[in-house]
Amino acid sequence: MLGQQTGSGERGDEPREQRESRGLVGQSLPFAAAFVAGFLLGRRRGGSDGEATEREGAIRDLGGADEESAGRLSAVANRIKSRAMPGDAGSASAEGADFESGDAERADAEPATDQPSSMGSVAGEQARQREREHADEPSETHQEAGDTDESGDASPDELDAVEAPTTRGMPMLGLGTYGMEADDECFGSVRAGLGMGYRHLDTAEGYHNEEAVGDAVAEADVDREDLFVATKVSPDNLDYDHVLTAAEESLDRLGLDAVDLLYVHWPTGEYEATDTLDAFAELREEGVTEEIGVSNFTVELLEEAVEVSPEPIFANQVEMHPLCPQTELRQFCAQDDVDVELVAYSPIARGDVDDVEELQAVADDHDATPAQVSLAWLREKGVTAIPKATSQSHLRENWLSLGVDLDEADVERIDAIEERRRLVDPDEAPWNQ
Ligand SMILES: NC(=O)c1ccc[n+]([C@@H]2O[C@H](COP(=O)([O-])OP(=O)(O)OC[C@H]3O[C@@H](n4cnc5c(N)ncnc54)[C@H](OP(=O)(O)O)[C@@H]3O)[C@@H](O)[C@H]2O)c1
Repeated sequence: MLGQQTGSGERGDEPREQRESRGLVGQSLPFAAAFVAGFLLGRRRGGSDGEATEREGAIRDLGGADEESAGRLSAVANRIKSRAMPGDAGSASAEGADFESGDAERADAEPATDQPSSMGSVAGEQARQREREHADEPSETHQEAGDTDESGDASPDELDAVEAPTTRGMPMLGLGTYGMEADDECFGSVRAGLGMGYRHLDTAEGYHNEEAVGDAVAEADVDREDLFVATKVSPDNLDYDHVLTAAEESLDRLGLDAVDLLYVHWPTGEYEATDTLDAFAELREEGVTEEIGVSNFTVELLEEAVEVSPEPIFANQVEMHPLCPQTELRQFCAQDDVDVELVAYSPIARGDVDDVEELQAVADDHDATPAQVSLAWLREKGVTAIPKATSQSHLRENWLSLGVDLDEADVERIDAIEERRRLVDPDEAPWNQ
């Protein structure tokens, strides 16, 4: 993880013992602060009065803020307010208009922004339905996943008990942000995730939320060097000059000096292996990115990328979960002369893993949930997972998957699942050519 420190610094420099001594109030603060700041950002970026009232309610629902925490909340609020300069607000609302009009599913399907229009209709509606069903209430599975207080807030001890392992400096459990298009939602979820222990954030130029992710990083009580931030360059920015400009623009939006990992989002549009990867190599040499990644690459495309890239390819981010096990790609990436990390997107199949009998059975054996088992299975395979979650219950459930240890028999049972399902499957995808 990078050495640059671009966070607010104020609380980031606080000694660890001091942070730990804040106990439950301290642990709850990130959530409370996230909601206060989200509320203010919502206003700054043109949130409607109705939305503001809803967020004010959410802040009140957190309840129990003592004098000390009220003081901290107001300090956070002031910091956010002080950044909401008129010019800033103007450009932000112009961007806001963009993602408000966009289909929430586009970003990870259509090569331009991620979701193909052809699949947006079916998978998109299913995901939206799931989002409606899961919206923010602590679920039963959440209650089973560990001891919780009545508010659904995370218990500090429980969260502290787990830590994400790293692979070559990359935390193997991260937070995906695709679909977090509203600034306040993205800010709040990322801020809450960071408060829980997530240290790997996955965003993209095409998600239109880099600024909100950057705001959450700036407000978090986490040193930059302890954080792993990944973003992606869209397919329409993959010729040499466009890559250089797009990367700088991503850094501006994120408010960072450099990212840890910069991906080619899709090998489509302007992608041309030599031209594109030469530009990525230049960015690595200049320190704009620590590592170079690709995404949605098949074995053939990855083989070509590894061969022509002047700098090593660090990771390939692809859809992977027990219904899409990527066996061939996994074997290829593990070869000594390839040595590419796999990062699994849609690692819980957007909630579909809940319906898989074998995963339910393994989950029962471990007093866990199918989503947690899916994440634990990926870890057993040496694969990094970046589940997206906006609700606190999902954020926490996924984080606590780090405490689920599968044995060989569990892994074999999951490997034996025959059902296959790919959720992100646009016509333009290389595997459909
Ligand atoms: N490179 C690419 O082309 C590409 C493509 C797709 C995704 N991605 C990246 O990968 C990340 C994750 O993939 P994804 O968002 O497609 O799918 P995902 O992480 O498998 O699923 C996210 C959905 O599942 C829900 N959820 C989260 N935790 C849950 C749990 N424990 N139990 C049940 N439901 C749960 C979320 O609900 P709530 O939000 O309501 O909590 C959300 O609706 C993305 O956010 C993005 O960063 C990259």
